[in-house]
Order: sequence, then structure tokens, then C-alpha cells
Amino acid sequence: MFKASRGAVRDVVFVDGVRTPFGKARGVYAETRADDLVVRVIRDLMRRNPSLPPERVDDVAIAATTQIGDQGLTIGRVAGILSGLPESVPGYAIDRMCAGAVTAVTTTASAIGIGAYDVAIAGGVEHMGRHPMGEGVDPNPRFVSEKLVDPSALVMGMTAENVHDRYPDITKARADAYAAASQEKVAKAYADGKIQPDLVPVAARHAETGWEYVTVDEPPRPGTTVETLAHLKTPFRPHGKVTAGNSAGINDGATGCILAASEVADELGLSKKMSLVGFGFVGVAPEVMGVGPIPSTEKALARTGLTIDDIGLFELNEAFAVQVLAFLDHFGLADDDPRVNPYGGAIALGHPLASSGVRLMTQLASEFEEHPEVRYGLTAMCVGFGMGATTIWENPHHAG
Ligand SMILES: CC(C)(COP(=O)(O)OP(=O)(O)OC[C@H]1O[C@@H](n2cnc3c(N)ncnc32)[C@H](O)[C@@H]1OP(=O)(O)O)[C@@H](O)C(=O)NCCC(=O)NCCS
Repeated sequence: MFKASRGAVRDVVFVDGVRTPFGKARGVYAETRADDLVVRVIRDLMRRNPSLPPERVDDVAIAATTQIGDQGLTIGRVAGILSGLPESVPGYAIDRMCAGAVTAVTTTASAIGIGAYDVAIAGGVEHMGRHPMGEGVDPNPRFVSEKLVDPSALVMGMTAENVHDRYPDITKARADAYAAASQEKVAKAYADGKIQPDLVPVAARHAETGWEYVTVDEPPRPGTTVETLAHLKTPFRPHGKVTAGNSAGINDGATGCILAASEVADELGLSKKMSLVGFGFVGVAPEVMGVGPIPSTEKALARTGLTIDDIGLFELNEAFAVQVLAFLDHFGLADDDPRVNPYGGAIALGHPLASSGVRLMTQLASEFEEHPEVRYGLTAMCVGFGMGATTIWENPHHAG
């Protein structure tokens, strides 16, 4: 174990990241427990990194938005035991809604940075089929009676319509074109074999169809065109702009990664796929939560002394096309900028809430390897109840 000297901050590296294929709610994982999805992720991380002695894992932080039933019981601890990690390895649960896995990463990375931990596992899970959004919630009536938040803040699709209201230049046609491009990019990334290497296959049982070995994402709809998207219903507002086609869906899945102090990764012979440069979380008006990544990115850039021009790759969570387009407009990026979500995004792949942050990081790590000319990349996502979350990473493959 390294002895960190007081006051020194250690570099934190992203050693490896994996995820289960994502499913549609009531789809392939209809009868699979959420905690079992996390177990698959942790076991595969350990299998892929055999030089990491399990007892060297200092903590397991797993996020879930709905911490009930198979997503409750301090899921990081439960999943650690079920995965076969030594009982000496502790674990805990995290909730920052959609940014749960991001927060699991930034929290454990901070602990590594100050020398409290050497190695951690961080990730997230959401089984939106077993735990529909809003299950068991009991919002304080003061939120509405004292007008602390607009009632639309409680329904994410309505907040996306509000973002359309705020930015009239972001038309439905633009949102649909962005969504169709996301589907196309995912289809191409699959055809090029970019996504498969970091997927953990899951054996899932279904009452009607029996056992299935799930090796690919279920939500993508290759061949989606703007013409088909144009006619979809707008469930959140009559004559609105947000549809099932330009939103992420209702999905099941789990993600996880190994983080380590850079010097400990060297000691243990672990890979270094990315180095954490910094991060930012910011609150915004809950009824336009989709704009959150704008100030969180500005904060992360300011804190790290970087500018948007230093960023060569962007992994933006596509909760809704409109909120990604608001981000792109703000930073002067084109709708089809090739640096943004090169492998496509959540509109096609799905967005199992608290798990998605580590999917973004895992894809960024893979893109870094492909692009040694890029030095810095970021992940950003909007978060329910009005927040944004951004992480900035450095590419170890950068040629300098
Ligand atoms: C938008 C939403 C309500 C749609 O739910 P849904 O109606 O169950 O979605 P479906 O997958 O059944 O799609 C609805 C219809 O659109 C069609 N559709 C969806 N995507 C399509 C695509 N890419 N191309 C063509 N048709 C598509 C479906 O076939 C379906 O058609 P049907 O009604 O004729 O069967 C739901 O996905 C949602 O709430 N998304 C947002 C999730 C969220 O808030 N996440 C948190 C973000 S912070």
C-alpha cells in the first residue's frame, strides 16, 4: 500500500470500463434482477484485469436512482459480496439520478486522489422495467405549493419540451435529424466492432422465450429516418416536439469501471485508459434540467484551466436530442460535429438512468485509443431536478 503524503494529490486513472448490453424495459432483462446485472459487471472487470488482487479493491460504489428492492440494500456492498469479492472489500450506494455512476466515479476518484484509497470499482445500474421512473417517490408538497419548482420539473419529457420553448431555433426537425444520426452512428459503430469489446454478455431468462445469451444492445433501431420520426406522437404535450424517437427510452442495464491511483496502476500492471483531469456539477432550474451540462462543463473547464477548444472528443448523454443541441449551440459546435458522440448515443443505445455515466466514459476511453491526436475529452449529462455533470479526461495515447 502506498503512503500518500499529506497535501499531495495523486493522479487517478480509468483502468477499464464495461457494461451489460442495454435492454428495453420489459425486454430481454424482464426477469433478471438489477443486482445480478451489477454482479456480471464486477466479475467481468475482475476477469479482464487479472493482475488486480481482489483484496486491493478499497471500495465499491454503485449508483441507482430507485434504491428499492433489488436496487436497494446498499447495492455496492450487496453486489460486491455476490460477485465474490473478499468480505473485507466494502461497498456503498450512490444516488444523483442520471449522474449516479458519474458521481460514483468522482467520489471514489477523489478518495484515491487524497490517498485514502488505491483502487475502487464505480458504476451504476437501473432496471427501469422493474423500477419505473417515480416508483415510491413522495415529493415534498412544498415543492409545488410554495412554487419552489415548476410542476413540469417532475416529468423529464416535460422539461425537454420546456428546453424547446427556451430555444426556438431548436426545431423538431433538428431534433429528429440529430436522433436519426445517433441511430446511424450506433449502427456503424456496431458494424465496425467498436461497441462490442466492452460489453459483458448476460444470460437472461424469459418466461416465454426461455434462456437468451444477451450480447448486443436491444434498443437501437437501425434504419431510422427523419421521415419516420416526423410522424411519432408527442407524449409530453399536445403538438409538442419531444417523441419516443428523439428521446432516450426506458431501459435496463449496468455499468462499471476500475479506477486507480496512477502509481498503483503501475505497481499492479494495470492499464491506463484515461487520466482524470477534473469534473464539475452544477444546479439549474429543475424545469429545464436539460441545460445542466452547459454550466457544469463551463465549471469543469474553468476549474481545470482548459477551454472548449482544448476538447477533442465529447461523450454527451442523449437524454433528449433538444438538450444535446442546446449544449452544441452554446459551445458553437455543429449538430453533426464528428467529435461529438462518434459511436452514437443514448437515443439509440438507451439510458438506464444511474448507469449511463460510465457508458460515456468507457466509450470515451475507446475513442481516445483511436485518436492519439486528441489530448482531452469530456463526458457530460443532464440530471433530474435540475443538474449537470461533466468529467474531463486526458488521453494517455496522446502523441504530445
Ligand atoms: C418518450 C417515451 C414516453 C416513449 O415511451 P413509449 O411510448 O413506451 O415508447 P415506444 O418505444 O413504445 O415508442 C412509441 C412509438 O414510437 C415508435 N418509435 C420509437 N422510436 C422510433 C424510431 N426510432 N423510429 C420509428 N419509430 C419509433 C415505436 O415503434 C412506437 O410506435 P407504436 O406506438 O406504433 O408502437 C419514453 O421513452 C420516455 O419517457 N423517454 C424518456 C425517458 C426519460 O425521461 N429518461 C430520463 C432522462 S433525464
